[in-house]
Amino acid sequence: MDRPSGRVLVTGAQGQIGTELVEALQQKHGHDNVIATDIRDDKGCQILDVMDKEGIEKLVLEQDITEIYHLAALLSATGEKNPELCWDINVVGLENVISAAKKNNARLFSPSSIAVFGPDCPKIAPQITPLNPTTVYGKTKVVGEQLAMSSGIDMRGIRYPGLISYKAPAGGGTTDYAVEIFHAALKNGHYDCFVREDTKLPMMYMDDAIRATLELMEIPLEKLSGARGGYNISGCSFSAEELVKSIQRHLPNFTCTFKPDIRQTYADSWPDEIEDDVAFKEWGWKAGFDLDKIVDEMIINLQN
Ligand code: SER
Repeated sequence: MDRPSGRVLVTGAQGQIGTELVEALQQKHGHDNVIATDIRDDKGCQILDVMDKEGIEKLVLEQDITEIYHLAALLSATGEKNPELCWDINVVGLENVISAAKKNNARLFSPSSIAVFGPDCPKIAPQITPLNPTTVYGKTKVVGEQLAMSSGIDMRGIRYPGLISYKAPAGGGTTDYAVEIFHAALKNGHYDCFVREDTKLPMMYMDDAIRATLELMEIPLEKLSGARGGYNISGCSFSAEELVKSIQRHLPNFTCTFKPDIRQTYADSWPDEIEDDVAFKEWGWKAGFDLDKIVDEMIINLQN
């Protein structure tokens, strides 16, 4: 049965998503009803390590947490460098959070990713398709989606595209170039991009990602299908070269060179675009930001 949401816990609150989701949740539930945690204790965060099973349980029970946003994770590039740590944090950490959620009958949001797809997925990824990722990170996200359906709790997720935002840096992912490029363009007028110019990936502005997260968590459980472990949501797709051209509308002297590294292989294993008809049908998902609008927002906000 759905309970009215009240007390909210966020893990990984200081990351790229957490920084903005905590603000949005505080507005929705009231500042004091949102407990932001991270392994770092600055910016008003309480320390919580997702590997500390007892610690999570204690916090969830003591604070009577009814909704958890579990954002603590390693991303693709960091994950491939430390595969065992990636598995521990992303899978064992999630299992710890699920166990705590179960004890207090809390609902859980756990992000998935476009990294669940592998080279055998069509370039425009459907909701239902074989999930054979090549990265450890992608595998941990597939397991996370499966746990959503087998854990026995109300658990939901979204296959986030690469997320573009200005409030907190992206960290350790393959799609980070689409964030770093803005900082470099404004600071140095130049960026060395670590993927090829023709690399096209699904991307999304953070405002859309936060809205999608809040909207998904509003829907009664019985309205959601077996896709709820990881909904495809589409923002917009563009190549690295198209991103450069859009930035040059604001900064005509901006230059970019393309020097692919190992992250190119991860990008190549992911689809170019995402089909989000299931998310639209089940909870009305529709993105608001296209490439030029994202670039306009990023430049304006980073210049201020
Ligand atoms: N943005 C993530 C990454 O690049 C994918 O979920 O690793």
